[in-house]
Amino acid sequence: MTASTENRGQFGSKIGFILSAAGSAVGLGNIWKFPGKAYSCGGGAFLVIYILMVVFIGTTVMLGEFVLGRKTQKNAIGAIRELNSKFAWVGGLGVLTGFIILCYYCQVGGWTMKYIVGYIIESSTIYADPMGYFLNMLGANGFPLQGAIIFPLIFLFLTAFIISRGVAEGIEKMSKILMPLLFILLIGLMIRSCTLPGADAGVMYMLHFDPSTIDANAFLVALGQAFFSLSLGMGVMITYASYLSKDDNLITNTGIICFLDTCVALFAGFMIIPAVFATGIDPGMGGGFAFATLAGVFMSIPGGTIFGILFYFLLFFAAVTSSTSILEGTVAFLVEEKGMERKKTVVMVSVVLFIIGVFYTLSQAYMDLKGIWISREGISYPIFGDFMEYLTDRLLLPLGALTTTVFAGWIWGTDNAIKEATSDGKYKFALAPLWAFLLRIVAPIAIIIIIIAGMFLGMSIS
Ligand code: PHE
Repeated sequence: MTASTENRGQFGSKIGFILSAAGSAVGLGNIWKFPGKAYSCGGGAFLVIYILMVVFIGTTVMLGEFVLGRKTQKNAIGAIRELNSKFAWVGGLGVLTGFIILCYYCQVGGWTMKYIVGYIIESSTIYADPMGYFLNMLGANGFPLQGAIIFPLIFLFLTAFIISRGVAEGIEKMSKILMPLLFILLIGLMIRSCTLPGADAGVMYMLHFDPSTIDANAFLVALGQAFFSLSLGMGVMITYASYLSKDDNLITNTGIICFLDTCVALFAGFMIIPAVFATGIDPGMGGGFAFATLAGVFMSIPGGTIFGILFYFLLFFAAVTSSTSILEGTVAFLVEEKGMERKKTVVMVSVVLFIIGVFYTLSQAYMDLKGIWISREGISYPIFGDFMEYLTDRLLLPLGALTTTVFAGWIWGTDNAIKEATSDGKYKFALAPLWAFLLRIVAPIAIIIIIIAGMFLGMSIS
């Protein structure tokens, strides 16, 4: 299902669409990013804010993207151009966002592969010192050839291969088995983690609503995380919905995808945070959630190493179904709008984003250092990690989502949008007036406030 498909097919089944959209949504954002943010933004209070963000803003924006895509039957840029050509530049914004996300997404995707191999060949080394193993991968003891170069390169190569060969359909078929498997495994691991000795403090931390931990930063982080996790704000969902027909109910699809994605994030949170408390492995700011901490869980299960291998394989798969959806958008823009040749574009984009991405991993081992440049072993490089996530989650994704809401709610208009959402009245939409209100007023204002607040809150992304 590539955006350049001339003869535009449609999803063969309802479940096919849900799986592809959920495949894009469920990824490293849920399992690697979310627990870290929940941990550092106050646990239970953050969960509440996050859920509110998903329910009121996430679903609003997602349905906004869906109606734009299905109405025009075009990819993100084409869709906006068709409805109002003055806004075609918005597509460019999405491409920039996707590009920056991919720089670090492919690095972390590479780490999942490193962990698959790690659990296969050296699980005892991981168990002996989970945090040391993780930091070693990031380059704490010399240049991280595997963590920054070899595995991310393989991950990126796979992503690029899938996009340039148009084998996305095969991936969708695999999703039918692997996504439910990931779901089940997460639930199993969550239960194990929550019952580890000492885990109850973590469970309490996640369930305890302490309003004093809520500050402007928590809202900002929750909103950015919601957009990132739901794949909103860069047109991915516009493109996916462009393959739907009027028979599909966009409203229930929105509900199902947001629900599934949020469940996965919550399961991951309740799998990882209790393990942090039980094992005492606090991954801090180094992005170690979903890597270092889980060793304690696998160690405590009979045959845990097998579960470890399976978990990282499924996480890797979830990451690929997300990374391909991002790269597709970037490449489709350059091919369709700038007339560039598809394969060449994939190679060119990949090389540049890979080089930038290497610095992400290199910066991870030095997260505690402040400053723009650091120097080690004679090489100077910028601390990119914080900055890239800051730019995408706090600024670019919210900006992309803002343009979607303003575009669908004001420029195209809520009458048109509701007509499309209900398939011209075919499906019931009791909440239509609420959605229109959220789309036109609440979501744009909330996003603007949060973007502006973010600019004043400084660079800490936690
Ligand atoms: N939603 C994906 C994740 O959680 C990442 C993503 C972001 C995909 C933006 C597409 C667009 O991992």
